[in-house]
Amino acid sequence: MNTKVGQLTDSYGRPITDLRVSVTDRCQFRCFYCLPNGEPPLAKKDTILTFEEILRAARVFIGLGIEKIRLTGGEPMLRRDLDKLVEGLAALKADGLKDIALTTNGFSIREKAVRLKDAGLDRITISLDSLDAANFRDITGVDKLAEVLDAIEAAKEAGLEPVKINAVIVRGRNEYELADFARFARETGVSMRFIEFMPLDSGHEWSREMVVSGREVRDAISAEYPLELRNSERGSETAWKYRFADGAPGEIGIIAPVTEMFCGQCSRIRLTADGQIRTCLFSSAEHDLRAVLRSTDSDSDVAEYIRNVTLKKEARHHINDTDFVQPDRTMSFIGG
Ligand code: GTP
Ligand code: 5AD
Ligand code: SF4
Repeated sequence: MNTKVGQLTDSYGRPITDLRVSVTDRCQFRCFYCLPNGEPPLAKKDTILTFEEILRAARVFIGLGIEKIRLTGGEPMLRRDLDKLVEGLAALKADGLKDIALTTNGFSIREKAVRLKDAGLDRITISLDSLDAANFRDITGVDKLAEVLDAIEAAKEAGLEPVKINAVIVRGRNEYELADFARFARETGVSMRFIEFMPLDSGHEWSREMVVSGREVRDAISAEYPLELRNSERGSETAWKYRFADGAPGEIGIIAPVTEMFCGQCSRIRLTADGQIRTCLFSSAEHDLRAVLRSTDSDSDVAEYIRNVTLKKEARHHINDTDFVQPDRTMSFIGG
């Protein structure tokens, strides 16, 4: 556990070292588990943080002990000149930032991967929920399987590694593809991560019956390709990581927030595109960092605000409680 003096810590003693920044709430995909019904009411342009504001916030967060920054969306590649933001963040490595990552649907990665790498991006995560073109279209609402597969190649070629692939596995939609995904990991050497469906979809379609548990995923894959656990201690990470017992390349990750909750060691805090701090994916309240950034030139005041907000971080999610209420803001705003 990180015990650096001055380390940003919540009221349960969890060190907060991981900041996830959503840079836009727009996305051109329509994944049924995220944003199926088209564009959300867009945050107004002047409420979206500028790159300067994001970089200022990042600098303050890093001063408080944040070591990892992940850029998310919506689809972050829709934000023009994203490489300039990455460049600004990379300059903050001198202040203690260790890792810059990006979560994307693959959009324009073929054209931009090298530029992002040169700007200082360390690694990339690409969403891929089906290897079958028709099912991919059903799940995402767009006919772009070939482009996403090519984006994965481009990311590897650019050295944005380890390339992680996210698949949300949902009953009746794609669980029959688990062995194909495992084969894909073996053939391409990527880290293929299977994620339990969480109630963060704007369509409010989520039901417990749709959740394919991490255990089920693990059993289905091991039946075909025996697996060996790599991390018996997960620390603050979301995924159990497995290697193939026969030594084949690639990795399997199991992310099971619903059936194997990992909140106890959560190290994550989030900033939405319009500058709201979310202390949990499932927070019911947000904290208006944008207003603070726009009302003071004092970085120590900003730091003080962040420290206080972090103390309000929730102990855990309540998905499994009978009185669970889905948060208003859905994954497309929060960024995953
Ligand atoms: P790195 O350690 O930075 O590579 O991140 P990661 O391994 O957590 O991966 P990533 O950011 O791609 O997250 C993968 C998925 O896990 C997300 O899309 C979410 O579905 C889920 N997830 C990530 N963070 C959290 C979290 O704090 N809480 C919950 N409940 N789910 C999360
Ligand atoms: N449940 C679990 N993960 C989700 N994501 C988006 N919506 C959900 C959801 N309802 C994750 C996917 C995607 C990333 C951007 O967010 O893994 O790759
Ligand atoms: Fe952290 Fe909230 Fe995710 Fe739990 S649900 S791991 S507390 S962000």
